[in-house]
Amino acid sequence: MGFFWWFSMIAIFHFITAKLISSDPSLSPPNKLSLTSSEFLNFANKREVFDWMVGIRRKLHENPELSSEEFQTSELIRRELDTLGVSYKYPVAVTGVIGYIGTGQPPFVALRADMDALPIQEMVEWEHKSKVPGKMHACGHDAHVTMLLGAAKILKEHEKDIQGTVVLVFQPAEERDGGAKRIIDAGALENVSAIFGLHVLPNIPIGEVGSRSGPIMAGSDFFEAVISGKGGHAAFPQHSIDPILAASNVIVSLQHLVSREADPLDSQVVTISKFHGGGAFNVIPDSVTIGGTFRAFSKQSLMQLRQRIVEVITGQAAVQRCNTTVNFIESSLISAVINDGKLHEHFRQVAEDMLGEGKVNNEMKPIMGSEDFSSYQEVIPGYFFFIGMEDASSFGPLESLHSPNFRVNEDVLPYGAALHASLAGNYLVKFQQHVKVATETGHNDEL
Ligand SMILES: *[C@@H]1O[C@H](CO)[C@@H](O)[C@H](O)[C@H]1NC(C)=O
Ligand SMILES: *[C@@H]1O[C@H](CO)[C@@H](O)[C@H](O)[C@H]1NC(C)=O
Repeated sequence: MGFFWWFSMIAIFHFITAKLISSDPSLSPPNKLSLTSSEFLNFANKREVFDWMVGIRRKLHENPELSSEEFQTSELIRRELDTLGVSYKYPVAVTGVIGYIGTGQPPFVALRADMDALPIQEMVEWEHKSKVPGKMHACGHDAHVTMLLGAAKILKEHEKDIQGTVVLVFQPAEERDGGAKRIIDAGALENVSAIFGLHVLPNIPIGEVGSRSGPIMAGSDFFEAVISGKGGHAAFPQHSIDPILAASNVIVSLQHLVSREADPLDSQVVTISKFHGGGAFNVIPDSVTIGGTFRAFSKQSLMQLRQRIVEVITGQAAVQRCNTTVNFIESSLISAVINDGKLHEHFRQVAEDMLGEGKVNNEMKPIMGSEDFSSYQEVIPGYFFFIGMEDASSFGPLESLHSPNFRVNEDVLPYGAALHASLAGNYLVKFQQHVKVATETGHNDEL
């Protein structure tokens, strides 16, 4: 760990000084990327590049596809990569696409965008409203795909300067079905040293970003329970076993898991979001189905909640003579997004260089939302950050993610494209300089 840090710091120092004193031959070679971060941003802001991105984003928005069904989305991505002259692997995890820009040789660094939409009916009335009833890009994945294509365009422009290979991960099924795990299982991240991902956020100002080192998003899981009693006439409760009252007590008891059993300093959530039972004024139903989600930052807390949810549902329902079955939804368990500390420093340098120091929130408060980006971080160092869209003066107030009124401020697209490109390009520069420093000093530990 000590050596590791020491050489990382030397590499970063050389990276910075090389930029300042590139005429001194005793120092590492200067930053070989011919464009600085702000030049990447200027490129992405060029009228024709911006309009091209807006066009892609609107096409995606009009044609949302749910998790694991991203066939047209995948086709559009491949068409754009073909036009840019970017080589790719397809199919990966059915609809996924993995692009490659650079030397084709190590080191490899990955950038990830998620592709899927949500089962939500869009309520925003505008020219490019979703054309598919009941489906909508209400989580901004249309913008994420567009930004990664934007990054591909920037990086392709400067391919000769890339000191390794940038791997573009267009991932299906983020909202459900564990698309990230499927990308990993397909071997797409073999030999990749680090991965970056981002998410648009309505409540960060445009031109600003936020993240932190360590936990940034919670882990989560879903559950469903059937509480069975005995149906009968509502006027003769003594002849029935009422599952509605039993389920009500179950739900109240579940609230005690966080308020009475969890460490108040260990953030957790238990929410019952589903309650189905009964249909007539004068009938006690046979059974009730409830379901919900629970969130926590550590695996231990998630497992503890999972076990106690079963015990509380079963035990509390038994008090009122009901039987239960509890199921956890297959492949829904997602661990917390935990950012690598060294990648955080890298992000901070790149983002501050591009946006200015005051525009980068390095200590963003973690959120209880979840992201299957965490699956990548279980395999390789990864970094996830949020990118702002708020611009009340010109765009009006923005609704939250997953709202039927969710809107994307398209001014965010150049920022996302340029940040992606700069994070990857400069990561490879640092990586190569690290190897050079390590070789010169006779130490060859891994970055
Ligand atoms: C990863 O590296 C190993 C060892 O250099 C090599 O044999 C393998 O082909 C590489 N895999 C990919 C996908 O590049
Ligand atoms: C609960 O299960 C037991 C054992 O199968 C059964 O005898 C009983 O009738 C069930 N009670 C309800 C309310 O379903």
